[in-house]
Amino acid sequence: MNTVTLPAYAKLNLTLDILGKRADGYHELATVMQSVTLHDDVTVTLTECSGIVCRCGTLPGDESNLAVRAAKAFFAGTGIAPRGLAIDVEKRIPTQAGMAGGSADAAAVLHALRALLAPGMTVQELETLGEQVGSDVPYCVRGGTALAEGRGEKLTTLKAAPRFHVVVCKPDFSVSTPVLFRRSDASEITDRPDTAGMLDAIEAGDAPGVAARVFNVFEAVLGQTEQEAVFSIKETLLALGASAAAMTGSGPTVFGLFTGLHQAQLAYHHLKRSYQQTFLSEFV
Ligand code: C5P
Repeated sequence: MNTVTLPAYAKLNLTLDILGKRADGYHELATVMQSVTLHDDVTVTLTECSGIVCRCGTLPGDESNLAVRAAKAFFAGTGIAPRGLAIDVEKRIPTQAGMAGGSADAAAVLHALRALLAPGMTVQELETLGEQVGSDVPYCVRGGTALAEGRGEKLTTLKAAPRFHVVVCKPDFSVSTPVLFRRSDASEITDRPDTAGMLDAIEAGDAPGVAARVFNVFEAVLGQTEQEAVFSIKETLLALGASAAAMTGSGPTVFGLFTGLHQAQLAYHHLKRSYQQTFLSEFV
């Protein structure tokens, strides 16, 4: 076997709380993450050439691509002699969207290299390698429903959350994650998610309880224009029957959770008319 293709699932933050700034410049988080079926396809092939060739749609395939960084971290961390690699990413997850698309690709590369070269490695060992690549990578290695704490690398796997259909809608602008974190430092966070309540609702399989606790503190520190755009999409989703709507990660993508497929489809078609990057998905 010299080639492996794996799905790289996008994530949503069902809750996202920032607990404080750390001495290392990162922020202490408490966030409940959920994988959704929207995914990239990542193919890793061992080649006879040296070096890594990465094709990733219109994105650069150089060192700035987390998929390439993951491959380098794999060889550096395992001590396995670097091999020539071709990494091909079929992108579907919107980029710079708060859905961890780049981190998901990186996680898929780690899983693929394990399958090709180190089948004895544990998922835990892959997660540790992923930490060096980015804060969301360990979660993407693990997937499913999980609480992420610390920088994002301290993971607790949760019972699979009650399944929802999801409409994901990315407005046509991007938000800088470091800038939003800095804004959160400068402002007092008054409204926070009920993380403990969310964990209880997930454990109990209580879908209305999960929906009632969807909350992201980053929404409060968006610039005014960005906030208006995000709130407008949230209102549309709720008016069209979503049980909950929120921004994911540092945005600007907004998601709506639906119990019924039909209503989710109607909301998807409605938003798709105004926002090209609208997707119909569901919890993995
Ligand atoms: O870890 P990653 O490179 O994905 O993080 C991107 C940026 O997001 C960091 O440089 C930092 O500014 C911010 N960040 C943070 N606290 C976290 C995760 C990310 O401040 N827990």
